[in-house]
Amino acid sequence: MKKEDLLALLNDMTPEEKIMQLVQLPGSAFESDFAVTGIADEASFDKLKKLAGSVLGIRGAEKVKAIQDEYMAGQPHHIPLLFMLDVIHGHDTVFPCPLGQGATFEPEISRKGAEIQAKEAAADGIQVTFSPMVDLVRDARWGRVMESTGEDPYLNGEMASAMVRGYQGESVADKEHVAACVKHFAGYGASEAGRDYNSVELSEYTLRDQYLKGYDKAISAGAKLVMTSFNTLNGIPSSGNKWLMRDILRKEMNFDGVLISDWGAIGEMVPWGFAKDLKEAAKLAIEAGVDIDMCTESYAANLASLIEDGKVDGELLDEAVLRILNLKNDLGLFEDPYHGASKERYEAITLSKESREIARDAVRKSLVLLKNNEETLPLRDGNIALIGPYASCKNLHSSWALSLDPEKTVTVMEAAGESKDVSLFLGMNQGGGLGGLNKKIVRVAKGSTILDNDTVLGFGEYHNESLDEENEKLLNEAIEVAEWADTVVLCLGEDIGQSGESTSRTNIMLPDIQMELFYEIRRRAKKLVTLIFTGRPLDLECIPDLSDALLICWRPGTEGGHGIWDVLSGEFSPSGKLPMSFPWAVGQAPIHYNVFATGRPKPTEGVTNFTTRYLDCPNEARYPFGYGLTYSSFDISKPVSDNDVLKKGENATGADKINVTVKVTNTGVVAATQTVQLYIRDLVSSRVRPVKELKGFKKVRLLPGESKDVSFEINEEMLRFWTINNKFESEEGDFRVYVGFDSTTENFYDFKLS
Ligand code: BGC
Repeated sequence: MKKEDLLALLNDMTPEEKIMQLVQLPGSAFESDFAVTGIADEASFDKLKKLAGSVLGIRGAEKVKAIQDEYMAGQPHHIPLLFMLDVIHGHDTVFPCPLGQGATFEPEISRKGAEIQAKEAAADGIQVTFSPMVDLVRDARWGRVMESTGEDPYLNGEMASAMVRGYQGESVADKEHVAACVKHFAGYGASEAGRDYNSVELSEYTLRDQYLKGYDKAISAGAKLVMTSFNTLNGIPSSGNKWLMRDILRKEMNFDGVLISDWGAIGEMVPWGFAKDLKEAAKLAIEAGVDIDMCTESYAANLASLIEDGKVDGELLDEAVLRILNLKNDLGLFEDPYHGASKERYEAITLSKESREIARDAVRKSLVLLKNNEETLPLRDGNIALIGPYASCKNLHSSWALSLDPEKTVTVMEAAGESKDVSLFLGMNQGGGLGGLNKKIVRVAKGSTILDNDTVLGFGEYHNESLDEENEKLLNEAIEVAEWADTVVLCLGEDIGQSGESTSRTNIMLPDIQMELFYEIRRRAKKLVTLIFTGRPLDLECIPDLSDALLICWRPGTEGGHGIWDVLSGEFSPSGKLPMSFPWAVGQAPIHYNVFATGRPKPTEGVTNFTTRYLDCPNEARYPFGYGLTYSSFDISKPVSDNDVLKKGENATGADKINVTVKVTNTGVVAATQTVQLYIRDLVSSRVRPVKELKGFKKVRLLPGESKDVSFEINEEMLRFWTINNKFESEEGDFRVYVGFDSTTENFYDFKLS
């Protein structure tokens, strides 16, 4: 539809019709005549269903088409309904959780993943996905760190913009793409004490310099929607924050798409004590520029009277409706209200061989090898015990994989069984003998349940069946298998319900039952490889010290087993790098590498009294951001540059950009990929700066003995920050550039900006 036709349509709509475009209903309203919006009486509910502009949570091409047909027939202008869903890290083909994707340091694999997710979701009737989540995360107590790509603004921005490009393609009108919604704007990752839905206090400096950057990049990549966050920011709930939404999001970031509230967030301004009732909340939200009210009755019940009474400018309503109509138009819904949804196409493309291949590639690139003593990995031929509750667990996804069928997931055990050189056996030795069949004989034993007897899960349920007896049996079997093996691969991890929304924890260790299993197996294992399935950095207690090898597997998704076996078997050399610091102890949270410099840095040697430190724990992470081993070893040269002076401004001397180069050499005996990381520090500036900031990274694959030069370009723009003048600018002076394989690198080179 042309712009003028959209305007004509808008002018022809009644106020009620317009307001209803701003209302989003949960799928239950259409599927089971039940809406959790609070609108109780039947007449209003009926009207809502007839006129609400969008719905969340309905999938299935046939269902979507039927609902759309009925809706459009009743909508006075036949405006189509918009279908949205959280497709976070996969629709049917589920990719590693976003934190795992961050570990790939490969935006392109996330772009491809998002493209596949969009294709499957669109065929299944979805038009908008509530992804990517770009919240900067530094506190592993917060369960939602799993949904972000980590603690670094640059990495987050690169990953999120790649996802936006993948979801949206060249044009969202294309039937294989969906519109992306960047969330949660803004600062949600800094929730106080890592507790979900909590308040956030951030200085404008930190907000702009670190927290907003990722969203900005994703928005610049063309995301069609943005979602408000649940938190307050310096005392103001996001959905009512005019400065944040109008000045920063709309004006500074030039966002002209649809701003949607998070679920119920407009209504939550009441319990926050920011609005006295839903009416006031509606006024605050529309004035802040929130276009869609997700699942409350604030807009539906109050906007009409607010406008009639002159308390809200009617222009604000028109503005919001136009943005929603524009989105529907961009999606091509006026021409094809199903956006290409098709059962046949969905069945033909979903979980295709090609999609699974890409997911498998994403998994193996996401795995982070934290330890590998005496080349315990890759696995050698011989007797291998695959033990632990994750050895044959199908729940390798996260609580945000809403559509997948876990039966389609490949477990580690299944992947091992498919391998040509493996003979696989379950459990105890049946007495028939195991030898002689293949080079690797793998026996599997569950060992324990995932959770302890009394664990409280995210949704308040108790795991209350008595597991003691079952666990004793499982343990005995695992011990027998462990004693038989040359190497034990122990698959441990958090429960699927322990990370995601509303899963904050003060204890970020593995469940006790699994630690008991760990100790029992460690005592018996000749060689122990520990695999950790997790949505957050964990306090790994003694696991790293007592394991011969340690591999972080995140929540790897549908192709988890294949990707993991590729790495265990040596088919693929691991290359993942931590996107978020793993702490020594939960007491270090929030912890991140890019901390501000301090006036009393802790010396590396000697007396540390009266310097910044803990008495009982290092300041640094146990495993830092950017860290991860491969099956090879690498050398890196000192950085060299083609110029020592970078020019600032028209008349300055120096170069417009300088190139910093290192020579990277594979000094080991296997081909492997290393991620070369570029960090910069501004040595003296008008505000205290972080000790290091990631500004670039490049993955380089090298054969044994091979060397390659890796260069990074540095320009003035990369040195800008939110200065004392309250704007992004660079300041003349000295800078240090670090190039290395993780964020602790001391391989540096100094240059000047003048
Ligand atoms: C979450 C959002 C999500 C929305 C819709 C909320 O509870 O915070 O991330 O997109 O629900 O499912």
